[in-house]
Amino acid sequence: MTGERIGTFIQENRTFEPSEAFRARARLRSREEYERLYRESLEQPEAFWARETADLVFDRRWTELLEWNAPHARWFVGARLNASVSCLDRHLTTSRRDAPALVWESEPGETRTLTYAELHAEVVRFAAVLRSLGVVSGDRVTIYMGMVPEVVVAMLACARIGAPHSVVFGGFAAEALRDRIEDCGARVVVTQDGAWRRGRVVPLKATVDRAVAETPCVEKVVVLRHLGEAHAPAERHARDVDWHEAMAAADPGRGAPESVDAEHPLYVLYTSGSTGRPKGVLHTTAGYLAGAHVSTRYVFDLRDDDVFWCTADVGWVTGHSYVVYGPLSNGATVVLYEGAPNQPDWGRFWRIVDRHRVSILYTAPTAIRAFIRQGTSFLEQADLSSLRLLGSVGEPINPEAWIWYHEHVGRRRCPIVDTWWQTETGTILLTTLPGATPAKPGSTGLPFFGAAPAVVRRDGSPVGAGEAGLLVLTRPWPSMLRTVWGDDERYRKQYWSEIEGVYFTGDGAHRDAEGYFRVVGRIDDVLNVAGHRIGTAEIESALVAHPAVAEAAAVGRPDELKGQALVVFVTLKPGHEPSEAMRGTLAEHVGSEIGKFARPDTVRFADGLPKTRSGKIMRRLLKDVAAGRESTGDVSTLEDFTVLAKLREEE
Ligand code: WTA
Repeated sequence: MTGERIGTFIQENRTFEPSEAFRARARLRSREEYERLYRESLEQPEAFWARETADLVFDRRWTELLEWNAPHARWFVGARLNASVSCLDRHLTTSRRDAPALVWESEPGETRTLTYAELHAEVVRFAAVLRSLGVVSGDRVTIYMGMVPEVVVAMLACARIGAPHSVVFGGFAAEALRDRIEDCGARVVVTQDGAWRRGRVVPLKATVDRAVAETPCVEKVVVLRHLGEAHAPAERHARDVDWHEAMAAADPGRGAPESVDAEHPLYVLYTSGSTGRPKGVLHTTAGYLAGAHVSTRYVFDLRDDDVFWCTADVGWVTGHSYVVYGPLSNGATVVLYEGAPNQPDWGRFWRIVDRHRVSILYTAPTAIRAFIRQGTSFLEQADLSSLRLLGSVGEPINPEAWIWYHEHVGRRRCPIVDTWWQTETGTILLTTLPGATPAKPGSTGLPFFGAAPAVVRRDGSPVGAGEAGLLVLTRPWPSMLRTVWGDDERYRKQYWSEIEGVYFTGDGAHRDAEGYFRVVGRIDDVLNVAGHRIGTAEIESALVAHPAVAEAAAVGRPDELKGQALVVFVTLKPGHEPSEAMRGTLAEHVGSEIGKFARPDTVRFADGLPKTRSGKIMRRLLKDVAAGRESTGDVSTLEDFTVLAKLREEE
């Protein structure tokens, strides 16, 4: 390893060129080629997007590419289309028709393949089912499922009838699910009996039952029997509809695609922000699809014969864009795995790669770091010769993990694309482009086509090369969120008002002399724990809802495995005493309010929390305490110094 150690990070100074073999077949082969297209995407966006989306199916062409009424954008103005047609119908007349669209494998080892023709038929039928339940264009449908082929069927069927889907990650608890169903006012929920995870069944239907008991907007719950009789849900309600029975009874004649306006809502996806209430990020049809389609093709250098495995759950945006809309609109073969990476052992991923001849693997740094801990023996037993490209997403990848991924998974043959983006951006906006731009471990790379990022100070002025600042986007891009569902004010305030006239990402970054961006992480009240985005305010509001808690503050602490670990500081109400048992109770409480993935790693008790004179909790100081660092910043506004001293004593 070269370079010097900075904290727990190695500074890696090497750059990695793609191999000649990769470059020879790549879509883009030089930085000049990239620059030319990038310039075109900003200076002649009409020509760029018309050409690059030529294989998407539009029922009516747009009259204007962008209507920008800051901060509201309309893209592909006047166009009509249906996203499911570009993902399915268009392949029926090509050689992709009988090619596998989905290759699914479950933790217990079941497998199933659906060709494009088969996936199309299923989606048509399920679209008919939704219509028979009274779902019409514009109605919201919540999807709470595991990684099964039917989750893709359900999403595309919603798109087909113009009903925006709201997929909720299956790890969320009943209360969190309830809030999300309620916020978007879903009429129908689609779920399944349960899904496999770590040798156990996650009881999805039972959680839906608890959530739906408190959401009068829901009229029907469609239940997929996925696990068989042994795992049948205990209860059956009048509102329940059996997936298989409904599919058998459906009239495929009612599954025709609805041609919708370019700006018709495609989906709402909830994500964490700086308040306790999660926000429903709204994506619309044409711009989002264009972004997903074009980014998948270039960033992953996609070809027809690629087998594409993005390991993200469809409950997160990465699953929306790079399991469903991006790869399917390009006609790729998508691998879906329902289960954990360590079942029955840490060799599972590599056996999946070999069994299905995966050529592109897209995963998160937290997974890579977990693999590093297991050593290389499982990798040595694997062939991995099918891999040709690797990707990383969700958090900064530390150079050590990058090098390990490159050496042990990519066997030094495969370029790595480090892709930066967000639920709100919809699709990848900063990335290495394999074949065209060399990779620098730890740097995500250059702007993708159509993206105009900058690093600025609070007042909006640009920082110099290498200087840290706030990452912003200075122009609208096709796949940007259009608003926050039901709360346009929040959209304006959160994204477009922090820094005058530009979109603020919430991330800190710097840019080197060659234009490469290095994103260092969130600088707002959002944490990134094991690649899961968690709002500190959500954790805090869950904690203060517990009868023993007077006040709580949640912060992140650097963690070698998870990137960030979740530390909470709690003051108890009179009559409650700090104890090990109370620690467990509170961690459990957060798990049951939000989801197990949000359980605090550390619960610390405090007599008081450090506050400013105006009563604001000084999270910055708590972060230092959590990390075991001295506070270097300004503490002059701290109300009571003894509070801080006490917290340190208790370390
Ligand atoms: C972080 C996930 C560094 C970032 C697609 C962003 C990254 C947040 C990277 C969005 C990357 C994502 N390098 N940081 N390659 N990718 N992030 O909405 O802090 O779940 O703001 O979307 O993840 O998380 P979200």
